[in-house]
Amino acid sequence: MFEFVTARELYELVQTGSQIEKDQLEYVELDGWVRTNRNNGSIGFIELNDGTYFKNVQLVYNKGDDDYDLCASLNTGDAINAYGEFKITSEGKQPFEIVLKKLTLVSKCDISYPLQKKRHSFEFLREIAHLRPKTNTFAAVFRVRSVLAMAIHEFFQNQGFVYVNGPIITGNDAEGAGETFTVTSLHDLSKGYKDDFFGKHTNLTVSAQLHAEAFAQCFRDVYTFGPTFRAEKSNTIRHAAEFWMVEPEIAFADLEDDMSLIEDMVKYCISSVLEECPAEMEFFNKMIDNTLLERLNHVLNSKFAVMTYSDAIDRLKKAVTDGFNFENKNIFWGMDLNSEHEKYLCEQIINGPLFLIDYPKEIKAFYMKQNEDGKTVAACDLLVPHIGELVGGSQREENYDKLVARMDELGMKHDSLQWYLDLRRFGGVSSAGFGLGFERMVMYVTGMQNIRDVIPFPRTVNNCEF
Ligand code: 4AD
Ligand code: MG
Repeated sequence: MFEFVTARELYELVQTGSQIEKDQLEYVELDGWVRTNRNNGSIGFIELNDGTYFKNVQLVYNKGDDDYDLCASLNTGDAINAYGEFKITSEGKQPFEIVLKKLTLVSKCDISYPLQKKRHSFEFLREIAHLRPKTNTFAAVFRVRSVLAMAIHEFFQNQGFVYVNGPIITGNDAEGAGETFTVTSLHDLSKGYKDDFFGKHTNLTVSAQLHAEAFAQCFRDVYTFGPTFRAEKSNTIRHAAEFWMVEPEIAFADLEDDMSLIEDMVKYCISSVLEECPAEMEFFNKMIDNTLLERLNHVLNSKFAVMTYSDAIDRLKKAVTDGFNFENKNIFWGMDLNSEHEKYLCEQIINGPLFLIDYPKEIKAFYMKQNEDGKTVAACDLLVPHIGELVGGSQREENYDKLVARMDELGMKHDSLQWYLDLRRFGGVSSAGFGLGFERMVMYVTGMQNIRDVIPFPRTVNNCEF
């Protein structure tokens, strides 16, 4: 029997197929790109990757074959079509191989091809973002990213959440942090925005939360999943100017409900990836971070810890007294925690995911529910080892007057947010939600350390190539 096949189908067949099916498959044809080619003058081996699966297919050719010279001339990067005999090789390094009968060169790869067999640094690979998915690491990262996106949709859809697309261009700064990118069609801004496309100042969204809240007051449970943009000039391994955020919003809900939704979602994402990308995950564990699988399995089997911001400050003060060497040792109630502090809390104290709750209102956004102490808000950040803040969430202030008072305190204008305030007047109920930084989740499950290496074409301060 002969079939046009993909690498994924062949690996699935040898891993799960019955002996009869395996025996029936005699000849196969497949297309792909040469990863490596070596021969000793009498026998040669081509590692072919066809893009459908992380692992390569081994093609074997022999001196005396009609196509021997062509096979021997192939280089890394060449695109070929291969036809040959499918052989199970249970004793070999690979579970099967293909003994070539016919080979066609589809497209020759120029000798200037930068991806040669040696290991390249991630820094170098960032400069060739258009080619790096052809390497093992990036092939694995971007397949996991795709599987993770699907897992997120599944997680929410399975529970009846409605998927909402927030606007990308908006007149609001949802976080009120002033880190927006202006959108304009004008080339001369000296006369202001009156003659601009929208007749007013607009920007790219920093968060779809406010719009999600409007839909939660109607569908109850909703989520958004889309691009967000922040002109935050922090040039770190965790910040990008363009990133994707998942923002669920649940009505008739409080902070407790929010935290259990976060925990369930994180666990669902981890198990999906472990189940659907075993080859990639094994690779990350071997090549990127050899405690990865152990760590992720531990997360699946443990309850996330919870600590108040005030307790965290006490712990950090104690760490300083005990001689822990933070760069910033000036710990006081009201400060915004630095990432070294967050890391200390979840890595040294908890050694796993940690919810920090009840932050001072001064360091959080205007919309968060004010706690009865008058000082803190019902916020939760999920901190995880190696990443820091993975999720930021809160219960929302549902009281119209309190929300207006807070906006006034912060000197925020009401006009562009009157619609948001109105949600409180028209049957608004308590709601809670959170934002998951999608790239940070990809980093968390793959062990990759730089956000630039989990985004196909990253945009960061001073970098907008491709
Ligand atoms: O904590 P943030 O700013 O929260 C919000 O935007 C809320 N509106 C979410 C909500 O309640 N609906 O951002 C949420 C998450 C962070 O925890 C972080 O994972 C990620 O988004 N994030 C970034 N990821 C990459 N690059 C950046 N510059 C990021 N800024 C935030
Ligand atoms: Mg945050």
